[in-house]
Formats: sequence, structure tokens, C-alpha cells
Amino acid sequence: MSKKAFIKAYLKNPSRTGSVIPSSDRLGKAFADQLELLPVNRIVELGPGTGALTKHIAGSSPKLVEIDRELCNVLANRFPGCIIENRCAVEFLKECHEPCGLIVSIPLINNPEKPRIVSAIREAYLRGVVSWCMIFTYGLADPLKDAGFKKSKKIRSVILNIPPAHIWHYE
Ligand SMILES: C[S@@+](CC[C@H](N)C(=O)[O-])C[C@H]1O[C@@H](n2cnc3c(N)ncnc32)[C@H](O)[C@@H]1O
Repeated sequence: MSKKAFIKAYLKNPSRTGSVIPSSDRLGKAFADQLELLPVNRIVELGPGTGALTKHIAGSSPKLVEIDRELCNVLANRFPGCIIENRCAVEFLKECHEPCGLIVSIPLINNPEKPRIVSAIREAYLRGVVSWCMIFTYGLADPLKDAGFKKSKKIRSVILNIPPAHIWHYE
């Protein structure tokens, strides 16, 4: 069911969805391992899709911000304990006042919305709302180099993902 919903979202808007299939369990576990090392605060996942990463971090009760309404219905069924907001990540970040750590599941490579998303993350970081951020990318370059974080590091590469993905951490 969730794979079908994901492919439907991809066909509706390929550049916004960014991938034809959800992320692998290996990628989700890599995020969960890293999360154990980070300060415990409110975790927000931007662009959770069908919850391929969310299922590995659901124990932290992340807030889920997903733009696609049908995918929000899938998420609500899968993760009844999570708060789900059906809205654009940019609007969410502009109005967010609760300090949080961010997991960005929206692929930015080839994403026409990238400048708006990066600028919203930057602004939320400068306001002190975002304390750390993790993102995966299918490219080799730092995907958030313009977001103004003091520290940035590629922490892991996950080859068993389609396409292979690189995880970056920022604070
Ligand atoms: C590649 S999918 C990632 C899904 C899942 N986390 C995974 O790893 O398989 C990207 C998701 O980001 C969502 N998305 C794209 N732009 C968004 C935006 N501006 N605000 C919120 N969600 C967005 C898409 O609808 C899609 O579900």
C-alpha cells in the first residue's frame, strides 16, 4: 500500500518526490544509529513520504511535515503516535518556534524548490530554533553548504540504497 502511494506521489510530481522508490532499511538504520548520539529534543522530519526513515526513528516520536495529502494519510495509519502536519516545509520552518533537531528527507538535488528550502532552514537555524540537522543526498557535494551551519560533516555513505546515499550532519 505505501509503495503504491509513493509511486503515485512520484508520478504526480517527480521533482518534488525526488526518488521512484522509498529509502532502504539500511539508510533508515544509519539515521537511527546517528540519532542516538545527538541531544534529545523535539525531532522534526521534513518530507517523510511513506515513512521509510520514520519507522526507524518512530521511538523518538518525531513531528512529520509532509506536503502530499495522500502520503499524510499513509503516515497517520502507520504512525498514530506522531504529530503530522500536511504542509510545506518552508511554511512550517518560518512559523516554527519550538527548538528542534531536523531530519530532512526531501531530496534537494534537482529540486526546483531547493533555494527556498535552504533559505528557510538557514533562517530557522539563525533564530536558534534548529539546533542540528541531518540530511541524505544522492550527490557528492554538501547539500546544505549555503544554510549557514557552523559545522558540517559527511558522516556516512549507504551503498545499499537506490540510488546510493550520503548522510550529512550539521550543527
Ligand atoms: C524521496 S521522498 C522521501 C520519503 C522518505 N523519507 C524516504 O526516505 O523514502 C521526499 C518527500 O518529500 C516530500 N516533499 C517534497 N517537498 C516538500 C515540501 N516543500 N514540504 C514538505 N514535504 C515535501 C515529498 O512529497 C516526498 O514525500
